[in-house]
Amino acid sequence: MQSSFVRPFAFAVLMTGSSLVPASLLASPASKADALLAKMTLDEKIGQMVQIDSGALADKTDVKKYFIGSVLSGGGSDPADNLPATWLQFANSFQDQALQTRLKIPLLYGIDAVHGNNNIDGAVIFPHNVGLGAMHNPELAARAARVTAAEVAGVGIQWAFGPCVAVAQDIRWGRTYESFSDDPALVSTLGAAQIRGMETPLPNGFTVLACPKHFLADGGTKNGVDEGNALGDEALMRNTFLPPYRAAVAAGAKSIMVSFSSWNGEKMHGNKHLLTDVLKGELGFKGFLVSDWAAIDQLGPNYKNDIETSINAGLDMAMIPYGPGQNNNYVDFINDLKDLVATGRVPQARIDDAVRRILLAKIEIGLFKYPNADPKLVSEVGSPAHRAVARECVRESVVLLRNENRTLPLSKNLQHLVVVGKAADDLGMQCGGWTISWQGSTGAVTHGGTTLLTAIKQAVSKNTEVTYSPEGDNLQGASAIIVAVGEMPYAEMKGDRSDLSLATADAALIEKAKAAGVPVVTVLYSGRPQVLGASLEQSDAFVAAWLPGTEGEGLTDVLFGDFQPAGKLSRPWPRDNSELNSSVFASHAAEPLFVPGYGLSYKAGMKAKEIKTAAVHE
Ligand code: BGC
Ligand code: BGC
Repeated sequence: MQSSFVRPFAFAVLMTGSSLVPASLLASPASKADALLAKMTLDEKIGQMVQIDSGALADKTDVKKYFIGSVLSGGGSDPADNLPATWLQFANSFQDQALQTRLKIPLLYGIDAVHGNNNIDGAVIFPHNVGLGAMHNPELAARAARVTAAEVAGVGIQWAFGPCVAVAQDIRWGRTYESFSDDPALVSTLGAAQIRGMETPLPNGFTVLACPKHFLADGGTKNGVDEGNALGDEALMRNTFLPPYRAAVAAGAKSIMVSFSSWNGEKMHGNKHLLTDVLKGELGFKGFLVSDWAAIDQLGPNYKNDIETSINAGLDMAMIPYGPGQNNNYVDFINDLKDLVATGRVPQARIDDAVRRILLAKIEIGLFKYPNADPKLVSEVGSPAHRAVARECVRESVVLLRNENRTLPLSKNLQHLVVVGKAADDLGMQCGGWTISWQGSTGAVTHGGTTLLTAIKQAVSKNTEVTYSPEGDNLQGASAIIVAVGEMPYAEMKGDRSDLSLATADAALIEKAKAAGVPVVTVLYSGRPQVLGASLEQSDAFVAAWLPGTEGEGLTDVLFGDFQPAGKLSRPWPRDNSELNSSVFASHAAEPLFVPGYGLSYKAGMKAKEIKTAAVHE
């Protein structure tokens, strides 16, 4: 009968404009993932579970040979000149290999875009999360992530290892600046906002995949030791560290990175209860779990056992920075996992679940449709429009700690404005770690961007003479002095400190400025509160600028009063080092110098003390 013949056909096609779309393309992402999975061999499946650092790949053709699912650039794995157009070609060259495989499953290229697409020369660098926390502004945090996504996609990359949703408790931890706050609620709000911002489709419809990290309690380790051990019962884990992941899942997170750290002595990468039962089960996380950098290697001395433990615990993709000739390299991983499946130590169902999750994320972000970047986006990397968003973040993140005699805002018509301190003209210090290189460095680290000194020169009137001397040899005849000091760049464990006092030279410079007898404004670049000692009172005004990134004009917007300071501390500010030494949650020591929520404005009438009290009772 004609009707029974026609009907199925009518269901199989749908008119969209003038074109006919086959029903197979209208299938749900989940059924597409299942259909693809059904076609895959074990080799193809295991390949999807492998992520290799580009620097470890023996040859790009290994992507094709082993059906590799993902490649990353760690902190130092950049193409030769590190420019956006080169990155685009670089990322595409790996994708080309993936697209030559039998099933043409595109690979995900991943990068640590944690404050802008920070590895790439000329990309806009945003304030680190410690600064974004002080903004208390989810809408702006989302826009910042959206700009980062555009700069990631612009160089052919589809996956950003952020936001970091650590709820850092002990500021001796070298990654404190990657944490928005010690308050789970604030971290949840800002983390979710950034995931939504990051995963907002770009103009061509493509979406960059976010990756909240590091699950779980990376910021809760004893004494703030990086990759250390968090102590406490499960209620503590759930109340303090889990909320941002609940919010992340609700915001649509499709990938999450597991933490190097341990809980009560057990490595997170082997913790089936937290990875599978709690995150995937209870929280309903449908995305995939990626390991941290060679992190499964830390489970024990035998790599094959480590693979078994982590995959059975719920890990879906392993980040592997080693290639042939090195221990625990990607070929070992592939061969070992194959054998583990063959001998039943890792169930086939676990492999299928892992691969289904990875495929689902790839389908949902539109990777099959857009495996290569829209080349138009590359010209937007570091664009004025993107820089304007970062500048907004800078001025909203600045926290005014002290402002005696209304020293700030400064007049733009001072006769002689003296600027001192190495930090004032150092983009690298302004940006901190995870900038161009893993650890970051001092000096002119990137093209574009504005140091504080340059921004000051642009902001003042033509009647004002601005002089600069890093050591403060120009104090004679000053109308006012701006002192810029701060921490040297660092990342991860290299930033762990037990003493958070200002550097001796920085304190001496502030003292020297004070002796000149004119108003002194101190601007501090740091990844966390510092122990200020006498330097606070020696400064008539004191500004915590965190690690603001490339857009120094955001600082002068506040210093010269074009913008009201509105930043509020997102964590307590300790009085001295002894407050850091007590317990796991050392930052909650009894009497901080400034409480969370503290931050002055230029509005008349309120004294520092009154504001401090007001903030507590808000
Ligand atoms: C860090 C991660 C980062 C990864 C890749 C690790 O050492 O802990 O945050 O995403 O390296 O660079
Ligand atoms: C890499 C980083 C990585 C770190 C881990 C560095 O060599 O560049 O990306 O996070 O090692 O220790």
